[in-house]
Amino acid sequence: MITITFDGYSSCGKSTMAKSLAAKIGYTFVDTGAMYRAVTLLALRNNLFGIDGSIDEIKLQQLLADTTIMQQYNPQLSKVETLLNGENVEGEIRTMNVSQHVSQIAALPFVRTEMVKQQQAMGRKGGIVMDGRDIGTTVLPDAEMKIFVTASPEVRAKRRYLELTAQGQEVTIEEVMQNLEQRDYIDSHREVSPLRQADDAVVLDNTNLTRDEQLAMLLALYHQRSND
Ligand code: DC
Repeated sequence: MITITFDGYSSCGKSTMAKSLAAKIGYTFVDTGAMYRAVTLLALRNNLFGIDGSIDEIKLQQLLADTTIMQQYNPQLSKVETLLNGENVEGEIRTMNVSQHVSQIAALPFVRTEMVKQQQAMGRKGGIVMDGRDIGTTVLPDAEMKIFVTASPEVRAKRRYLELTAQGQEVTIEEVMQNLEQRDYIDSHREVSPLRQADDAVVLDNTNLTRDEQLAMLLALYHQRSND
């Protein structure tokens, strides 16, 4: 069994691709963005964001020490769900409010150190498809297959908009576009493990590819890399 990483910008279809590849080859899918989102929800619920945009880092660090974040496969829904201290928060971590605060939380060094530690422990088992921003560069630099996903900003905003409105959330396409641009900027410019393409990653631009076409390309690469 090999280890597979997916990195790339927000809403470019990384998780959809990573999930369908994992399901096809019987690997475990790990969504690391969901972990940063769960920490953000924890901070929001405890009112740790000041009106000046600051974060009460000391309080967050204390809370994190007593917090468990887990991902669990739900066989009824055939999907992985995120649990924050045992509570299923899969819906709540996908709201615009969490999206608007998550990049700030993901830039905090102590948050990254803790999340990366947990992700590396999961990665050591092999048979993993892990999706995020720094997986091929920092979390699992020895992975045998690394994919860096991109798509045009317009296509990404449209996909995300359709996803959010399908869930009943009231957002405009302009708001979604602005949030994506803002997150991409913060994610690529932060000091600790910024979003960056690993030197040995294969770039997959899916602007004009169907899901079936993407999966076929990924499976071909998987068979080549795993000699399977
Ligand atoms: O993949 P996503 O949109 O759910 O990720 C949410 C945020 O978490 C994203 O804006 C960047 C951050 N993130 C990160 O910094 N490192 C990761 N490995 C995964 C996500």
